[in-house]
Amino acid sequence: MPISVCDRLAELGEIGRGERGLTRQLFTEPEHRARALLARWGRELNCEVVQDRIGNLFVRRAGRSNAPALQFGSHLDTVLDGGAYDGAYGVAGGVSVLAELAAHGVETQRPFELAAWAGEEGSRFPVGCLGSAVYVGWEHLDEMLELRGDDGMTLAQARNGPYGLLPDVPIRDDFPRPAAYAELHIEQGPVLERAGVPLGVVTAIAGMHRYTVRVNGEAGHAGTVPMPVRRDAFSATAELALMLESAAREIGDCVATIGWLAITPNQTNIVPGLVECRIDARSTDPVRLKELDRRIHALAKEVAGRRSVRIDVHRFEERAPTPLDEGLKGILRETLDAHSLAYLDVPSGAVHDAMCIASICPAAMLFVPSIAGASHVGHERTAPADLERGVDAFKAWLLAIDRAL
Ligand code: GLV
Ligand code: MN
Ligand code: MN
Repeated sequence: MPISVCDRLAELGEIGRGERGLTRQLFTEPEHRARALLARWGRELNCEVVQDRIGNLFVRRAGRSNAPALQFGSHLDTVLDGGAYDGAYGVAGGVSVLAELAAHGVETQRPFELAAWAGEEGSRFPVGCLGSAVYVGWEHLDEMLELRGDDGMTLAQARNGPYGLLPDVPIRDDFPRPAAYAELHIEQGPVLERAGVPLGVVTAIAGMHRYTVRVNGEAGHAGTVPMPVRRDAFSATAELALMLESAAREIGDCVATIGWLAITPNQTNIVPGLVECRIDARSTDPVRLKELDRRIHALAKEVAGRRSVRIDVHRFEERAPTPLDEGLKGILRETLDAHSLAYLDVPSGAVHDAMCIASICPAAMLFVPSIAGASHVGHERTAPADLERGVDAFKAWLLAIDRAL
């Protein structure tokens, strides 16, 4: 009797657990432990387990032919104080599919390859979908190894340290192009739950621009510098943040967030002289994303002029909105219809590794509901019945893709 996806998620969900949620950042002890657990699960299923030099981990089950694999997967890293389902569900669900195929002696046409992509969240090193972006060639391994994490360590130092690559797993240096890619994920929003529908066919993934903003003002004594002559870098940033919020509301169908901010020197009795923050801006509509980009630069100029501070805006990540493959979505809808499973077409506001993989092969995604739409928080949940149903539907979809390819 194969282990259920809920049991696998419960085991993964103990790794990195803290008071407010799960924290498994790339190349830290808990994230390393989660990858080691996946490698063990893969070996227990008699699959080939390999990794590449950015830390992507692959569990491969042979098919009748050695044709390009049908690849599926998600990620094991989390945001700070995140949930137990974002990413982990797609990985644990993929293991469940492989275990079911093994239990029933199912032979597939082509190899089935589960991928756990490294550093999807961009939460330690500031590039999202890091492992899958390197896999498809959007980012170069050597450049990424120079990235500095929020803790001051470079990616190379972290990867070469004790929690880097798995010591007992062979390294694969090529990046084979899969025949197709499918990703199972929690919705992370409220649409499916509100509609009372258990499955979502993902239409497209929102595009995302990320920026670093440096606001240079003038530090001074909090008790003596008179208000009219201050060049307070934090007040300027706060004004920029509120104007950005209004701009995103005005444009509509887009979101903009400042979730990371550092004040220097960050002391109660000093007027802030320097603020660095990051803007995360998203939309499924490229026109709105472009308008947001224009507004961010215009607002920075306006606030800088009015407050006599200097504001430098640098876009460090640019991901275009990604429509998912019509052929794979068609196979998914047919499969769900054949199993009398209700579904809804939904866009994804979150980004996913499927976005990168879609640039090298047909890619599509299946969602299950998130309770109260909560995600990137410790109380992220999906009902066990929805998790199980999602895996069953995902397995049926993969087998249908394998037959159709
Ligand atoms: C990852 O979950 C993201 O959308 O940033
Ligand atoms: Mn995710
Ligand atoms: Mn996430």
